[in-house]
Amino acid sequence: MIRPDVDLYDGGPVRAGLLLVAVLTGACAGADIPTPSVIDANRSGIALGRLERGRAVYLEKCTRCHSPVAPRDYSSNEWPGRVDEMTDRSKISQDEKQLILTYLTTMSSTPK
Ligand code: HEC
Repeated sequence: MIRPDVDLYDGGPVRAGLLLVAVLTGACAGADIPTPSVIDANRSGIALGRLERGRAVYLEKCTRCHSPVAPRDYSSNEWPGRVDEMTDRSKISQDEKQLILTYLTTMSSTPK
């Protein structure tokens, strides 16, 4: 006889599964700054390493004055203007600006 209710209450596999889900969703919701995946690299045609560096530079250079804005908060058309406005304030090089922009537009609400 199968007892589907048992594991829910004795800390068996079901609870372990729920805990894992909580940890994973917690990590995503907390940051909102997604880590690029192979899928993002493939659909954008941009090397994963470049996207990862873009994320790192973004978190390093753009969080001094405010918490990082989630890439999905703007479309890929809106991000260049936003980053332009912030470039002088952030003291970033053209290289860094390009990396940041590549990451943000790829992970934006309308990814390229
Ligand atoms: C020297 C401080 C400073 C740095 C560094 C900085 N910002 Fe900002 N940012 C601000 C301020 C202040 C605002 C509030 C609106 C304004 O004044 O334009 C803002 C607003 C924004 C907004 C619009 C508000 C929102 O919540 O959507 C975005 C997007 C943004 N910043 C992105 C960036 C990016 C990307 C970088 C890195 C290239 C960056 N910021 C670096 C000070 C800064």
